[in-house]
Amino acid sequence: MCKLGINIDHVATLRNARGESHPDLLRAAKILEECQVDSITMHLREDRRHIKDDDLFLIKDKVDLPINLEIAPTEEMTKIALRLNPRSICFVPEKRMEITTEGGLNVKSNIIKIEKLLNLLSNSKIKVACFIEPDLKQINSLKSLGIRILEFHTGAYADSKTIKIMKAKLLLIKKAARYAEELGFDCHAGHGLNYDNVYNIASIREIKELNIGHFIIGDAIFCGLKNSILKMKDIINAART
Ligand code: PXP
Repeated sequence: MCKLGINIDHVATLRNARGESHPDLLRAAKILEECQVDSITMHLREDRRHIKDDDLFLIKDKVDLPINLEIAPTEEMTKIALRLNPRSICFVPEKRMEITTEGGLNVKSNIIKIEKLLNLLSNSKIKVACFIEPDLKQINSLKSLGIRILEFHTGAYADSKTIKIMKAKLLLIKKAARYAEELGFDCHAGHGLNYDNVYNIASIREIKELNIGHFIIGDAIFCGLKNSILKMKDIINAART
């Protein structure tokens, strides 16, 4: 089976639009629990535009689901991760002005920085992943750091303008997943996935976990969060049977 983590950042985006407490993030997290998703993903951005520090600790305290915390590879964020002690963290690139995480992390050019952060984390049991493009060079750089979990950025695949481009991007993900698994990586994937494009990604046996956020939260406006999550789970499960 392919695991599913749901990213609830955009419940917080909507809440923050009014600066009040509605819609309640904890209520959303409780629905994730009810749907028995595999993890709850939150991205603590440096500008705190959606998830806030307090949200993380409240959810850790009140929700019985493993937390996957997405953070920029900085000392400040890593220290917060150490205090929170989630199941896993995923280092993602972060630019202040971007609307969303626009691409994967360039591991090679951040190798010294990441090494220092891994040292900080060395006494904890937090699993460490990096969000990368499906690129063999990035996988090799992760290997040299001793990291064994990665998440492929599926944005280029999801945003493809033609079927031909989409097939080519899918092939890149398949090849990278095969290569990474041979090297002993645990492969995850996410970004831009929806009911139409998730099947192909969930069909890749080497990919063990998907993280999906924006589409589900948007669809939930029309269908309700529980229905949206369960529909997504059905499609992912169908791809693995
Ligand atoms: N995985 C990672 C590492 C992310 O940063 C994000 C959000 O950009 C997602 C998955 C979920 O992407 P989306 O909200 O497009 O489903």
